Amino acid sequence: MAKLGVNIDHVATIRQARGGVEPDPVAAAVIAEMAGADGITVHLREDRRHIQDRDLELLRKTIKTRLNLEMAATDEMVSIAQKIRPDMCTLVPEKRLELTTEGGLDVRCNIEQIKSAVERIRSAGIPVSLFIDADTDQIKAADRVGADYIEIHTGIFSEATDWKSGEAELIRIENGVKLARKLGLGVNAGHGLNYANIKQITSIRGIDEYNIGHSIISRAVLVGLERAVRDMSELVRFA
Ligand code: PXP
Repeated sequence: MAKLGVNIDHVATIRQARGGVEPDPVAAAVIAEMAGADGITVHLREDRRHIQDRDLELLRKTIKTRLNLEMAATDEMVSIAQKIRPDMCTLVPEKRLELTTEGGLDVRCNIEQIKSAVERIRSAGIPVSLFIDADTDQIKAADRVGADYIEIHTGIFSEATDWKSGEAELIRIENGVKLARKLGLGVNAGHGLNYANIKQITSIRGIDEYNIGHSIISRAVLVGLERAVRDMSELVRFA
């Protein structure tokens, strides 16, 4: 059965908007686990715009499922991974000015840098996943550098503005999953998956885990708002 990894970065984004202590991503992780999440995913970015080092340390000590750390293939991040020891590291490309991860890693053109990061993380006993497009050359390169998993970037599919290009990308993803499986790689998928498009992706066989963040946190804000307003309204009225 496929698994759900819940990305809680945007709980920290809301907290960082005020620089305070709430909402706490660790509390969010516990609730996500109680609701059935199979794992918790966080992206520790170089600029620390949402998840902080302390969150990572507390998450490691608190969560009972699996911690997937998304990170850039830099020396700083490799050292942090070796210290924190998440259950999986997912290497992602990172640009300072991007709003979110844009596109997959270019493993093919950065073989040496990525191979070295993969080796150093794996030598600490941590499996490594590479976030890449469903591209034949990138999948073969992921295998060459010794990755355990790939995470297929579903952003092109989820951002498709017409049926035809969405279908074309879905077929490319399906072929990518088949190739990765044939090479013995595990396969995850994520980026831009939401309540409307998830069924199309889950119809593809061979994907182990879906990493989903923005749509879940967005829905949480809306479905939780009524209760939050009622609670405050009672406090104001019955003072
Ligand atoms: N997988 C990876 C590698 C990501 O970088 C992200 C975004 O942080 C996600 C999954 C989750 O994407 P979304 O927030 O669009 O669900």
